[in-house]
Amino acid sequence: MPNLAVKLQNEPAEQNEPILKAVDLHTWFEIRRMGFFKAGDVRALDGVTFELYQGETVSIVGESGCGKSTLAKTILGIHKPTKGELYFQGKNVAEFDKDELKEYRSKVGYIQQDPYGALPSFMDTRTILEEPMKINGIKSKKERENRIKQVLEEVKLAPIEDYLPKFPHMLSGGQQQRLVIARAMILEPKLLIADEPVSMLDASVRVEILQLLQSLQRVHNLAIIYITHDLSTVRYFSERIFSMYGAKIIEKSTTEALLDNPLHPYTQALFRATSDPDAENLKTFKEVPTGEPPSLMNPPPGCRFNPRCSKKIKGLCDVEEPPEIQVNGDQIVKCWLYEKEKVSHESK
Ligand SMILES: Nc1ncnc2c1ncn2[C@@H]1O[C@H](COP(=O)(O)OP(=O)(O)O)[C@@H](O)[C@H]1O
Ligand code: SF4
Ligand SMILES: [Mg+2]
Repeated sequence: MPNLAVKLQNEPAEQNEPILKAVDLHTWFEIRRMGFFKAGDVRALDGVTFELYQGETVSIVGESGCGKSTLAKTILGIHKPTKGELYFQGKNVAEFDKDELKEYRSKVGYIQQDPYGALPSFMDTRTILEEPMKINGIKSKKERENRIKQVLEEVKLAPIEDYLPKFPHMLSGGQQQRLVIARAMILEPKLLIADEPVSMLDASVRVEILQLLQSLQRVHNLAIIYITHDLSTVRYFSERIFSMYGAKIIEKSTTEALLDNPLHPYTQALFRATSDPDAENLKTFKEVPTGEPPSLMNPPPGCRFNPRCSKKIKGLCDVEEPPEIQVNGDQIVKCWLYEKEKVSHESK
């Protein structure tokens, strides 16, 4: 995919209070044999902590099955966390009453990977956009009509009158995703969660959709969580990157620092593959290091990456989970290598 032409120039994030804060968030799925006996839990999200500020985009990267969508769905309230807390604008989401929960849902927009699957096939564009407003008590028909027009203009589904009566199957993949984005924007959210928003679209429309998200962010000062497999876009689309492995965030960094100097051996392997200058290698590159992802029902002890890590410290990495280590102002990493560095610096 060609790179996006212009890097998003955000207003500086408001650093006082995060719009979203996750503290030791866990989401486990119980697995039952024959629908009866508990066979164990899939620890799809297993202790995730982070803060997100208004006006910033954070990319979440990591191989398939590492828990990215579970994190998205836990934030969206589709899954209830097994443990840990989620705070929105300083308030614990678990303590929201019915009205607060409704308000929260209206402030967090969701853009899924498969736009066709996300849209009700029996509704036309007007109804798809009007529904959330009716549910949220916007009673004035005129207000709803105005908002629909405004949002369709913003996502560039024009001429508007042509699109209003159309059903999802009458739209192209790119137009369907614009409609999904319009629906996500209709209640004027503060935060958008975009889970692989372009991976099912034709290469020709991917950049346009990402540019649309960028422009919406700029105009509305949105916070965006951008989940992606496409590492070539993160540089242009996010201020920070979280790298996930085995249901945990193993590196949190500014985009600049991470691309310049990835710290975690897994992130190094992930990004080395995309920065290979040899065009021949690019055709054959592997996005992930060799070896199997860890079982989330029975994860390896210690660092979850240890069975695949060439830098593993025996007796430590395979025994004890590494803590989060702040390596410099911009990077936090869960890896024992940096604890050792810290200790050896301190003892000098
Ligand atoms: N509803 C569910 N029930 C049981 N296991 C699930 C459920 N949703 C996801 N999982 C499992 O949780 C793990 C993480 O999945 P997911 O969050 O979809 O990963 P990603 O989006 O990074 O590919 C996978 O092992 C997946 O099979
Ligand atoms: S903690 Fe050990 S096994 Fe895990 S990534 Fe670091 S060096 Fe490798
Ligand atoms: Mg996913």
